[in-house]
Amino acid sequence: MPRLAGKIALVTGAAQGIGAAIVGAFVAEGATVWLTDLDPAAAAREADAVGHGAVAATLDVRDEAQLEATFAAILARHGRVDIVVNNAGITGLDTPRPHDPENASLADWRAVLATNLDGVFLGCKYAIRAMRPTATGSIVNMSSRSGLVGIPGAAAYAASKAGVRNHSKSVALWCAQQRLQVRCNSVHPAAILTPIWEAMAGRGSDREAKLAAMVADSPLRRFGTVDEVAALVVYLASDESAYVTGSEFDIDGGLLAGSAASPG
Ligand SMILES: NC(=O)c1ccc[n+]([C@@H]2O[C@H](COP(=O)([O-])OP(=O)(O)OC[C@H]3O[C@@H](n4cnc5c(N)ncnc54)[C@H](O)[C@@H]3O)[C@@H](O)[C@H]2O)c1
Repeated sequence: MPRLAGKIALVTGAAQGIGAAIVGAFVAEGATVWLTDLDPAAAAREADAVGHGAVAATLDVRDEAQLEATFAAILARHGRVDIVVNNAGITGLDTPRPHDPENASLADWRAVLATNLDGVFLGCKYAIRAMRPTATGSIVNMSSRSGLVGIPGAAAYAASKAGVRNHSKSVALWCAQQRLQVRCNSVHPAAILTPIWEAMAGRGSDREAKLAAMVADSPLRRFGTVDEVAALVVYLASDESAYVTGSEFDIDGGLLAGSAASPG
C-alpha cells in the first residue's frame, strides 16, 4: 500500500532541488501533488518530468492573494488538502552584496525574510484553513541547520530559518488547541547538494575544492542528497508520524551533533 495513497499535497518552491524531489517522492507514494513555484516555466517542466500525479501551478509565496487563490483552486478541484510543504526559500547570496549583521542593507534583509519567513507564515495560515473541514493534515516547514546556529555571512537567512523553526511550534500548538489533528513540524537540512549551493561554489577551477571545503567539517564528510531529505518529508507527511507535531528534524550528516565526530 503506498504510504500517501489518495492524499492531496501542495509543495512550494518545487521546480528544482529539494522541493522537486519531495514532489517525486510524494507521487511515488500515491499522492496527487500541486507542484508550485515562482517560476511557471520551470514548474511546468518539472511537472511534465514527474508525470501523472503532479499538477504545475505558479505561486510566489510572498503574495498572499496568490496563496489564497491556489488553496481555493485545490479545494475546488479535490475538496481537501492533506499535506502542505512550505519549502520555498532563498539565501540572498546570489548578489555580491554583504549579508553580515554590520553591512547588510535593510532591503536585502527584508527580501530574504519575505520569502523564507513571511512565505511560511502565509503557507501555514492558508494550510490550516484548508485543513479545517477534515480537521486533519500535515504541514512541513523547511527550515535549516542555519535556523539553529548563527551564520555571520548570511544573517537574514539564519534569522529567517530560526523564525521558521519557532513558528512551526506555534502552528502545531495552535492546531492542537483548536482540537485539529493538523500537525506541523520543521525540517533542518544542511549541505544538500542543490542549485542553492551554485552561487557559493561558482564555476571557477576551484569549484570542486570549494565544494569539498563546505563539507569538510561534516561528520559524514559528504553532501546529502535531495532524495534523503524527501524520504524524511514523506515520513512527516504520512500517517506513520500521526503522533509527531511541533518537532524539529535535523538532516545534516551529523553536523549539529557537535564537532566533527568521524575518526581523523
Ligand atoms: N540545499 C541545502 O543545502 C539546504 C540546506 C538547508 C535548508 N535548505 C532549504 O531547503 C529549501 C529548498 O532548497 P533548495 O536547495 O532545493 O533550493 P533551490 O534554490 O534549488 O530551489 C528553491 C526553489 O524555490 C523557488 N522560489 C524561490 N523564491 C520563491 C518564492 N518567493 N515563491 C515560490 N518559489 C520560490 C525557486 O524558483 C526554486 O525553484 C529552502 O527553503 C532552503 O532554504 C536547503
